Amino acid sequence: ADRAAFIAGLPKAELHLHIEGSLEPELMFALAQRNAVAIPFASVEEVRAAYAFSNLQDFLDIYYQGMGVLHTEQDFHDLTAAYLARAHADNVRHVEIFFDPQGHTTRGVAFATVIAGITRALDEARREYGLTSKLILCFLRHLSEADADATLDEALPFLGRIDGIGLDSSEVGHPPSKFARVFARARALGLKLVAHAGEEGPPAYVREALDLLHVDRIDHGNRSLEDPALVARLASEGMTLTVCPLSNLKLCVVGDMADHPLKIMLDAGLAATVNSDDPSYFGGYVGANYQAVADALDLSKAELLALARNSFTGSFLSDADKANHL
Ligand code: ADE
Ligand code: ZN
Repeated sequence: ADRAAFIAGLPKAELHLHIEGSLEPELMFALAQRNAVAIPFASVEEVRAAYAFSNLQDFLDIYYQGMGVLHTEQDFHDLTAAYLARAHADNVRHVEIFFDPQGHTTRGVAFATVIAGITRALDEARREYGLTSKLILCFLRHLSEADADATLDEALPFLGRIDGIGLDSSEVGHPPSKFARVFARARALGLKLVAHAGEEGPPAYVREALDLLHVDRIDHGNRSLEDPALVARLASEGMTLTVCPLSNLKLCVVGDMADHPLKIMLDAGLAATVNSDDPSYFGGYVGANYQAVADALDLSKAELLALARNSFTGSFLSDADKANHL
């Protein structure tokens, strides 16, 4: 109870959150009805029952299906506003949100529609809660680099609202090297760079993200721990890892929360953070992620505070804005 109050009171930044992964079953049903889209579920309970995954791909199949109810600017607004209200309730002060435009443009939804809805909700949260945000466009790595390039072209008119690019979807078989050219292009445009690496993929993918993509953060990074030289490098470079405990449990990256490597990461000097990834699918928002991993690993208040501080220092806020949070 003491730990719960401490976690609830900690000001946090969330750095690994796929906005489409915050689509709660209730909103999925409401949007399916509003847009007259058929969904293969009869009830909210049936949807939740379908959220049993044995790996990343199991989840991705249902995640891409779920986002099919999102059509209008209002839909993207309502999705984002619901997440931001929930994050605010967890004392999240700053959020860096991923979105997957290719999950929408391939269904005929305009890039501009997606951006307009998300940014309207971000602007409202800034005014209503003082909650600040950055927006990160993710490329789907199971698609080609040419597709990613075309998506970056579509983003060019909106770079005033897009702070960085990321790399997500099916990791194994789609190494960072596949996207070296489009990342170089984004880097030349002044965008921040992140990539999912070492969630299911090997430590070599984390090395590629560092050496070939020149990322500013590693999303997940769990499998880095298999390579001690890589761990030493990540620690000495102060590289932020955006770790997602409930995601790791639900996608069987860890078999049990008691086996979660978060404490090992902290003890190794890694700049680990705690994040929710796809909270609707994985059973909890950021506060629940802190709570679950803290209970399982018996994390101290000092460790919890370090995790929360890492979330601000690893953010893409300016040094002046970081200082206001630390
Ligand atoms: N897309 C949404 N969540 C993801 C995850 N955890 N890994 C890869 N791609 C994703
Ligand atoms: Zn993710």
